Amino acid sequence: MLGGVTSLLDLVRGATFDDFLFTPQYSVIERRDPASIDLSCRLSEHLHLKRPIVSANMDTITRAEMAIAVAEEGGIGIIDRGFRSGDIEPQVREVERVKRRQHGIIADPYTIRADAPLTDAADIMGRTGVGTLVVVDDGRRILGLLTTRDMRFSDRSGRVADRMTPRERLVVREGPVDAVAAEDAMRTHKIKKLPLVDSDGRLTGLVTAKDLVKQKQLPFATRDAHGRLRVGAAIGAKGDYLERAAELLGAGADVIVIDIAHGHSGVMARAIDAFRKQFGKVELIAGNVATSDGVRFLVERGVNGVKVGIGPGGGCTTRLNTNFGVPQVEALVTCRAAAGERVPLIADGGIKRDGAVVQALLFGGDTVMLGSALAGTVETPGDTVQKPVVIPESHKTVKVPFKVFRGMASLQAIVDRLDVEDAESADVEALGAEGMEISVPARGSVRPIVRDMLKHLCSAISYGGAGSLAELQEMFRKDPHRYATRLSESARRESFDR
Ligand code: XMP
Repeated sequence: MLGGVTSLLDLVRGATFDDFLFTPQYSVIERRDPASIDLSCRLSEHLHLKRPIVSANMDTITRAEMAIAVAEEGGIGIIDRGFRSGDIEPQVREVERVKRRQHGIIADPYTIRADAPLTDAADIMGRTGVGTLVVVDDGRRILGLLTTRDMRFSDRSGRVADRMTPRERLVVREGPVDAVAAEDAMRTHKIKKLPLVDSDGRLTGLVTAKDLVKQKQLPFATRDAHGRLRVGAAIGAKGDYLERAAELLGAGADVIVIDIAHGHSGVMARAIDAFRKQFGKVELIAGNVATSDGVRFLVERGVNGVKVGIGPGGGCTTRLNTNFGVPQVEALVTCRAAAGERVPLIADGGIKRDGAVVQALLFGGDTVMLGSALAGTVETPGDTVQKPVVIPESHKTVKVPFKVFRGMASLQAIVDRLDVEDAESADVEALGAEGMEISVPARGSVRPIVRDMLKHLCSAISYGGAGSLAELQEMFRKDPHRYATRLSESARRESFDR
């Protein structure tokens, strides 16, 4: 095994995705279908995913909509920290939006007092997008339910008590209830909402039929123990990072990612120590690194996952501007060999075509982090702008919709994060940008893009002669030379120049 790894290191030195093809093997699966092929993997030491896809913590990629879509498809999104320093609440709100999107049992439903004006209820519903408020007294004992339907023909001049369905007309369950029992009760009583109470009649949760149906429709979604979608959130290693982490965790973030450009650094060491001191065993991923020393440095400090990639990113100019970096396949093989078994690796950056996903997962990644591959989709933040484009054949100009994608170290992203009003203009000019901003064509929802990627991954598993992702990874690591062929320049052109 070790011999295989050592010679693999020689094979991949100085190489990246487009330098390799894999040799096909005898196929053992009947259908290349993501619904029947096990793609499960580890995001970090204690977090498992059914699909190895992570959306990048970039301010033009992952906010709540992207994190929801990717988690529903079986991966996870990491909400970026590209909000102004000191401005923690907007990032917290994105985490909350993901955690409240879909529930098995809503542990902390929105509540309202019976004597509150209906206008307050309408405000809460409008602000949160929630259609059911539980009406409670001062002791959190349940008095009724108020839904958007109760408000439909009301002029909103009255009080909540006038329109709510009162406690005596509700079916309420006492004690702990799981999703199966809740569904049973809803079917028997033909109800769509089931409030849960303790033995004193105090509210402990709410189950809705809509959420239960959603759970069944999305069997691969990444959920926590309460049935809520999982989401990660990024922090830095200086400034408000600990306060930010505290609030993100309070909002339900499942994992924190300390994300800095050069994770093998004194700044990172201090940040991890301070984080562990304050938050104990909270699931923590750190990065980015690309060397064996870098990955060992993080693993020894007790992180639960490591992000690998210095400079392969689509919006990244680090290698151009500093000449430092490690070709991504070399980085993955090196880091895998150094990381040991405990800590999973996220292969972060440089995935430009679906075929590179299986490469990243075989050469060392447990998951892939995607930025530019998801850019321009509906779920990315930012406006769509119409830009004139000249069609070469006809020389006609047409308007094409575009969205912005940019590196998090691009000048534009840095300036947006600064409170520019307070910044001296000299400070802004002195910033060393290591990223760029580009326009990418707008291209519909991210979901078919992720699904196609997963179908292609399943095809790759079939070509590789395995029955699951984990099996292919094991087969590859036992005998990488059976698979990996380093390409000549002409073979590279034959393979990837289209
Ligand atoms: P892709 O290739 O998927 O890569 O777009 C996403 C990753 O790129 C990294 N990133 C940057 N790297 N300067 C950098 O050196 C930047 O401005 C920058 N912005 C993003 C990041 O690791 C992301 O996940």
